[in-house]
Amino acid sequence: MTDFTELFNLKGKKIIVTGGAQGIGHEFVKAFKQAGAEIVVLDISDKVASLSSLNVGYIKCDLMEVEKIKLYFKQALELLDGKLDVLINCAGIIKRSPAVDVPLDTWQKIFNLNVLSLFELSRLAAVEMKKFGQGKIINLSSIVSIVGAYNSSPYSASKGAVLQLTKSLSNEWAQYGIQVNAIAPGYILTDMNSDILQDSVRKKEFEDRIPSKKWGDPQDIVGTAMFLATKASDYVTGILIPVDGGVLSR
Ligand SMILES: NC(=O)c1ccc[n+]([C@@H]2O[C@H](COP(=O)([O-])OP(=O)(O)OC[C@H]3O[C@@H](n4cnc5c(N)ncnc54)[C@H](O)[C@@H]3O)[C@@H](O)[C@H]2O)c1
Repeated sequence: MTDFTELFNLKGKKIIVTGGAQGIGHEFVKAFKQAGAEIVVLDISDKVASLSSLNVGYIKCDLMEVEKIKLYFKQALELLDGKLDVLINCAGIIKRSPAVDVPLDTWQKIFNLNVLSLFELSRLAAVEMKKFGQGKIINLSSIVSIVGAYNSSPYSASKGAVLQLTKSLSNEWAQYGIQVNAIAPGYILTDMNSDILQDSVRKKEFEDRIPSKKWGDPQDIVGTAMFLATKASDYVTGILIPVDGGVLSR
């Protein structure tokens, strides 16, 4: 008989979180650690104090340097004693400006991090997960994977690509027991939105567009990530779950 008390169990699960030094990724790290998981963070940030106090593995790296990702992944896997249960692709950047003003190298940087590093890490993870016949890959997409953005067209295009990759990789790997899914946060209170949050008028304009009438907290994303990281979602793959206070339903 199925033991339903195990459905959301993360105890002993080995997890890589990219972008886990701050924001949404850091909230995942804190929550998953509390739930008993073993975690390694890949991040460019120097904000490691909180990670070391949580006893979380950390590899400082620039994931835009895609040719080095194999090495970073190998180091992370070693820290996890050669097994990986969950990969969370959370590192991401946005640059806001009208399309006509976007320098070409900005497009390249956004795609290198938001799309290519996610693709490369997911492939490396899938090879390891296939050996054990199970694994979970969780990609941070966005509501602008579905609707267009305003003044951040390369970011929106990159998140559209994340959604398509989620579906395509799921098609390939579901047969090996690997589920690939995406979470689409709405407007969340993190540094990524600091320019908007510092402007009370713009902050309120965004708030007015949200049926829940408030910005999301990084903690609001954790439950969905936990669902997608555990047995509870073993027959859920290739989908996107919006966590957006209702924005996409408007
Ligand atoms: N905040 C939102 O409103 C929102 C909405 C939709 C989607 N998202 C997505 O959620 C994810 C997390 O966003 P957040 O709001 O927590 O952002 P954040 O800026 O607070 O955190 C991003 C993390 O990525 C790391 N990072 C940046 N560049 C890197 C690089 N080159 N190599 C390695 N690590 C790098 C940063 O150091 C940081 O820890 C992103 O993929 C973002 O696109 C955020």
